[in-house]
Amino acid sequence: MKLGRLNHIGVATPSIADSIVFYRDVMGATKIHAPFDLPEQGVKVCFVDTPGADGAMNGTQIELIEPLPGNASIAAFLEKNPAGGQHHVCYEVPDIHAAKAEFEAMGKRVLGLPRIGAHGTLIFFVHPKDMQGILTEIMEVGVGLEH
Ligand code: CO
Repeated sequence: MKLGRLNHIGVATPSIADSIVFYRDVMGATKIHAPFDLPEQGVKVCFVDTPGADGAMNGTQIELIEPLPGNASIAAFLEKNPAGGQHHVCYEVPDIHAAKAEFEAMGKRVLGLPRIGAHGTLIFFVHPKDMQGILTEIMEVGVGLEH
């Protein structure tokens, strides 16, 4: 495994609308994308951009996630963390299938098959108990993909 760019930090929230106000007014975010439903994952998602090292808005994103009705796992997370909180981190890899094979060869529990994530590219999650306590998302990015 070759550690890639930290693409985003997943933050669970009981209200994306309230979180947008927080990131805009408290954190000074200037680029907040329109929220959208991702029914395959049972979540509503909203990306907040942060600047990269060059000052352009190409840094690590905050991925706000709010459960859609019927999403038991995020709802359970919010029951334990009523104000919301950090849910996962996501690293980029060039080849999702190679990354999956590498994690599995190291005995890490990959949760499910690679599937299309919130950015429209293939992702999978690795069990937090195998990842120093952090639910870890691995995301494929194509060569030349814009951030
Ligand atoms: Co994510």
